[in-house]
Amino acid sequence: MSDPTELRADGDRLLARIEALGAIGAIVGADGSRGSSRLALTDEDREGRDLVVTWMRDLGLEVAIDEIGNVVGTRPGTDPTAAPVMTGSHIDTVRSGGRYDGNLGVLAGLEVVETLERHGVRTRHPIAVAFFTNEEGARFQPDMLGSLVYVGGYPLEDALDVAAVDGPRLGTELARIGYAGGVPCPAARAPHAFVELHIEQGPVLEAAGIGIGAVTGVQGISWQELTIAGQSNHAGTTPMAMRHDAGVVAAEIAVLARRLATELGGHQVATVGRLELHPNVVNVVPGQATLTVDLRNTDDDVLREAERRLRRQAEEIAAAEGTAITSRVLARFEPVEFDPLVVGLVEATAARLGHSTLRLPAGAGHDAQMLARVCPSGMVFVPSAGGVSHNPAEHTDPAELTAGADVLLQVLLSLAG
Ligand code: HGY
Ligand code: MN
Ligand code: MN
Repeated sequence: MSDPTELRADGDRLLARIEALGAIGAIVGADGSRGSSRLALTDEDREGRDLVVTWMRDLGLEVAIDEIGNVVGTRPGTDPTAAPVMTGSHIDTVRSGGRYDGNLGVLAGLEVVETLERHGVRTRHPIAVAFFTNEEGARFQPDMLGSLVYVGGYPLEDALDVAAVDGPRLGTELARIGYAGGVPCPAARAPHAFVELHIEQGPVLEAAGIGIGAVTGVQGISWQELTIAGQSNHAGTTPMAMRHDAGVVAAEIAVLARRLATELGGHQVATVGRLELHPNVVNVVPGQATLTVDLRNTDDDVLREAERRLRRQAEEIAAAEGTAITSRVLARFEPVEFDPLVVGLVEATAARLGHSTLRLPAGAGHDAQMLARVCPSGMVFVPSAGGVSHNPAEHTDPAELTAGADVLLQVLLSLAG
């Protein structure tokens, strides 16, 4: 048996799995780039789940499906009493996603297992590879819902009752695709540690010419849905002074969100990602508008200030137009700091393997931020070309993907003993 510290991933094998999974729900972007669309608990998600579960079983992993549909494949360790060292991420995507977001972390976990198997390496702790339900939060909110329930951060029954943006109840969809598992959730036992490999999805590593990110934590996330009630009316006959145009209020709030982020500066970001008008026809003043506002910041005090300003100014805009406004919280997660020992291990391992490293916070939400509530957790980032993600054009060079898998392999070996 070779020296475990010299083990490296097989990049071709990893890429082949990324390609095979990416072909499920395959879409082509406007620029011809190839992405995936596998919204949580859709038929495409089921197909992707089935493929990954098959790979898990082919690798001899013991596959457990829990009550919210999280799937964990476990490779036994030499010490049956030891808690698993866990890796993984998600394989659901946004509506027009790329091939790497989430998928890389799950498939690199399988690559780690296959490398250990092929080299006859045993670890003291079991090694578990997980994919969590509904990480994206595109169809069901909040995001990271599967891992949040897994760590006891959200009641299972409430999660099963969440309605999709397109209507169906989460629990019904879970049963429909055959992933309403029997393993209790929250998990009966926390992992020994959790490390997730993920693309950065931002421009920092590429701009700095750095190969590996040692992720220090995750910024705070605030999602809300605003509903504006005005009055549908005739686009031609209704004098401007008599209008209660929900569409104009929604548009002003979108501009307000952008202005807020600019005024607050720093890490503040703001996005109106979903905007629906009713009745949404050319010759009717919109009587209703529904929009989502995604605010994020590494500093929770500033994030709360952003939420306060948005609420106050949105109410002023709605009142001035004679419309009513209501809001519903879709997700609210405070910033998370990862375990300094895990961050340091990622950094030292990457350096030992000869990669340049940088410490940085995650701009996107990740399952690791939920696992951090129950065990020492951290993340390994690899660069995103052009900082683009949540877009079929999402890309990371094969050599960078393989470097990430190598670092993940060695970090997991260090943790699993
Ligand atoms: O929204 C996020 O940051 C993650 O992709 N769910
Ligand atoms: Mn992700
Ligand atoms: Mn994502």
